Amino acid sequence: MDLLINFFVGVHVIGIAALLGGFIYQLKAAGQGTVRFAPGMLHGALVMLVSGLLLTALNNADDVELNNTKIGLKMAVLLAILTIIFVKRSEEQVDKRLFGLVGLLTLVNIFTAVLWT
Ligand code: HEM
Repeated sequence: MDLLINFFVGVHVIGIAALLGGFIYQLKAAGQGTVRFAPGMLHGALVMLVSGLLLTALNNADDVELNNTKIGLKMAVLLAILTIIFVKRSEEQVDKRLFGLVGLLTLVNIFTAVLWT
């Protein structure tokens, strides 16, 4: 079971890479006002959701006690990220403040995950 859990932590990290990578890659473009939610960002966020749910289920099945408040917070923040990206996914150019908000929320989730022990 440990191997499976660690595998999905790896998948979880790949999701972060796609979501945050799409954000960082476009930081310069955001400064020039020509930014969009790249498809990889939506896919990354979906990977986070699916792997996060699987990690929660696997840890529960393994009787590992999770911090449900922390998981709930990460879930709520991710749902906000997903909603924004999904609604704006076809727009060639999005408001840079909205783009910045998605980056900020992603960072909030990363630091919630690693600092709330
Ligand atoms: C953008 C959204 C998310 C980010 C950036 C994120 C980040 C992370 C990171 C860095 C880890 C590994 C570090 C650690 O174990 O503490 C982790 C683990 C985990 N994540 Fe996420 N996560 C996100 C969304 C979610 C969601 C939506 C769920 C549940 C539905 C979830 C459930 C879990 C679980 C169960 C673990 C392993 C156990 C734990 O340490 O809490 N994550 N996450």
